[in-house]
Amino acid sequence: MQKKIAIFASGNGSNFQALADACVKGYINAEISLCVCDHPGAYVTERARRLGIKVIELRPKSFPSKEDYEKTILKELEKEKIDFICLAGYMRIVGKTLLDSFRNKIVNIHPSLLPAFPGIDGIGQAMAYGVKVYGVTIHYVDETLDGGSIIAQAAIPYEGSDREVLEKMVHAREHALYIETVKKLMETV
Ligand code: GAR
Repeated sequence: MQKKIAIFASGNGSNFQALADACVKGYINAEISLCVCDHPGAYVTERARRLGIKVIELRPKSFPSKEDYEKTILKELEKEKIDFICLAGYMRIVGKTLLDSFRNKIVNIHPSLLPAFPGIDGIGQAMAYGVKVYGVTIHYVDETLDGGSIIAQAAIPYEGSDREVLEKMVHAREHALYIETVKKLMETV
């Protein structure tokens, strides 16, 4: 049976778009049923609405605790009968409430060869370090920052210093790797 995916995102949503398009085309055998956004008004919400995907926008700071915030999300996930969660630029550590309910069913994408350069601006961190091989990682999510067992990685050799060029390379690789990885995961979950 076709699985239902929720995508959590905080910003632009290019990975959201890549996954959603691949589902619409039938390349990934799943439906993106929900977009969860912790930055009301972020561009990802416009992308989702354009595709007719339900959006929930929440301000984490308006909840008394992380648990309350995640319980609200959990209710929506249950209402939509979500099977699987993809984080796509969701700049927040997932807490126990969601992890306990979606054990091994939450994956994340990060723009570095983890465990190097977790957290904000993985590309900038790697550039500042002077690496010659950049990369992308997709991993299961645990309670740590960009932590959890690795599912897939891609290396991107680049010795230049043009951040814009590098970002384009990284994002293109992210989109392709996320599509291929989620496609495979949907065949096994
Ligand atoms: C992506 O590069 C993703 O890997 C990164 O945020 C960007 C979101 O771009 N995620 C992290 O850094 C997670 N720690 P997008 O909104 O265009 O998909």
